[in-house]
Amino acid sequence: MRSFLYLASLVAAAEPFWNEPDTGLETFLSGTNWTEGTQPALKDIRGIPDFDFAARQKLDNQQYSFYRTASAGEYSYRNNLEIWSKVKFRARMLTDVTKVNETLATQILGYNFSAPIFIAPAARGAYADPERAELNFVEASGSENTLYTAALYASKTIEELAAVKSNNTLNGPQVIFQQIYTNSNLSVTWDQIARAERTGAKAIVWTIDAPATSVRHRAARYDTTNANAVTSALTWDIYDQMKNRTSLPIIPKGISTVEDALVAIEKGVKAIYISNHGARQLDHSPSPLEIAYEIHRNAPEVFKKVEVLADSGVRYGADVLKLLALGVKAVGLGRPFMYANTYGLEGVTKAIQILKQEIASDAAQAGIHDIQNISPKVLNTRALEADVYIMED
Ligand SMILES: Cc1cc2nc3c(=O)[nH]c(=O)nc-3n(C[C@H](O)[C@H](O)[C@H](O)COP(=O)(O)O)c2cc1C
Ligand SMILES: *[C@@H]1O[C@H](CO)[C@@H](O)[C@H](O)[C@H]1NC(C)=O
Ligand SMILES: *[C@@H]1O[C@H](CO)[C@@H](O)[C@H](O)[C@H]1NC(C)=O
Ligand SMILES: *[C@@H]1O[C@H](CO)[C@@H](O)[C@H](O)[C@H]1NC(C)=O
Ligand SMILES: *[C@@H]1O[C@H](CO)[C@@H](O)[C@H](O)[C@H]1NC(C)=O
Ligand SMILES: *[C@@H]1O[C@H](CO)[C@@H](O)[C@H](O)[C@H]1NC(C)=O
Ligand SMILES: *[C@@H]1O[C@H](CO)[C@@H](O)[C@H](O)[C@H]1NC(C)=O
Repeated sequence: MRSFLYLASLVAAAEPFWNEPDTGLETFLSGTNWTEGTQPALKDIRGIPDFDFAARQKLDNQQYSFYRTASAGEYSYRNNLEIWSKVKFRARMLTDVTKVNETLATQILGYNFSAPIFIAPAARGAYADPERAELNFVEASGSENTLYTAALYASKTIEELAAVKSNNTLNGPQVIFQQIYTNSNLSVTWDQIARAERTGAKAIVWTIDAPATSVRHRAARYDTTNANAVTSALTWDIYDQMKNRTSLPIIPKGISTVEDALVAIEKGVKAIYISNHGARQLDHSPSPLEIAYEIHRNAPEVFKKVEVLADSGVRYGADVLKLLALGVKAVGLGRPFMYANTYGLEGVTKAIQILKQEIASDAAQAGIHDIQNISPKVLNTRALEADVYIMED
């Protein structure tokens, strides 16, 4: 037993299980009047991973587990966080990067945003802020001029979210996209799409990577169900029917192979969303960096033909830059914003600001003077080459 434990601790030392790296936050707090179980002051939050620690202080175990859970052994969850280290920057020096933060802005489906990041759709915002829930996501995105993609299973209704949209953004009235799930009763879906249209949503994000209940031990302990717990017949035929019902662009969320990216293009989509759902659906599904690289290697034209959104495991400005360099247009984060919302509107706003700052700073450090025209040459992707899938002719 003893030698087993010893061995286990050696293995643990070699391959630590982590949510967030040691950011020095706990060391810092130990020198203050902070007590465990209370949140640090928001001013002491310096990076996105700090919000995970802060959320653990406030949420109860059931709530935190619902946000944090991932599928099965959570190998994909850890891979989502760790994969970034495999790709190094090839920073060119002496390239005058003084204007880099004027290039942070982007367009998504023709709408103007101040930065290539967005809040990914995630259910049950009320755990973090019982009163305001996702209203904080709408308001922070409005004032920061970034995109919010509302979850169908948000704690607030489509109408409640629309009611707090800003009237004064780079697009005039605030642009939000509406995520939906479909199941066997499509008349429910038609109703949801009609509500999204009525309240002015500008795109439908259709989640295609939840065809069945998923294996989530961490959340199951609290009998916390999945977002989509029924097995449903998800097919491209539903896309065709949806196209018939709405003129809004439909963005399939959960594309994880080059083949599906190509089918989506054949179907005429304007954008695709690569994701493994924050590793919450299928363990051993690939991270967005691996998916983007598979597409880059096999069908690089995908990034020109459609706009590519991506999420899962993004925690730093540098992660965002790596996806942008492969051709991704904008990058979403799920858990970090749910955790930031334990501080309410101010926390969500700070999370967006941290990301903007890190993207601009890291771009400059990497010798990128124009984020809108970032080259794949800024990355050394040799380590991904060993595992990448190559399509047969
Ligand atoms: C608590 C939680 C709830 C989620 N609910 C949904 C959902 O209702 N619909 C959906 O398409 N994705 C949902 N997701 C997945 C996110 O949209 C996103 O793909 C994922 O969180 C990205 O990974 P990250 O958390 O590592 O950033 C959820 C994620 C979390 C963490
Ligand atoms: C802890 O210290 C901060 C200033 O460092 C102060 O603002 C705060 O009120 C203190 N909190 C408690 C509970 O003493
Ligand atoms: C935006 O304008 C509409 C219509 O004038 C108004 O009802 C709404 O309250 C305004 N929203 C905000 C956040 O001020
Ligand atoms: C986006 O910005 C461009 C350039 O400033 C402007 O011409 C365009 O009208 C804006 N689009 C929207 C939807 O506001
Ligand atoms: C499908 O949903 C609609 C609208 O909610 C409902 O009226 C209808 O009874 C449902 N049909 C089935 C077969 O459950
Ligand atoms: C779309 O609508 C047309 C015209 O109403 C109809 O003929 C066609 O079968 C519909 N297609 C789908 C996939 O629902
Ligand atoms: C852009 O640069 C200025 C000055 O260098 C800085 O104050 C500002 O915070 C930067 N903006 C972003 C989004 O990084």
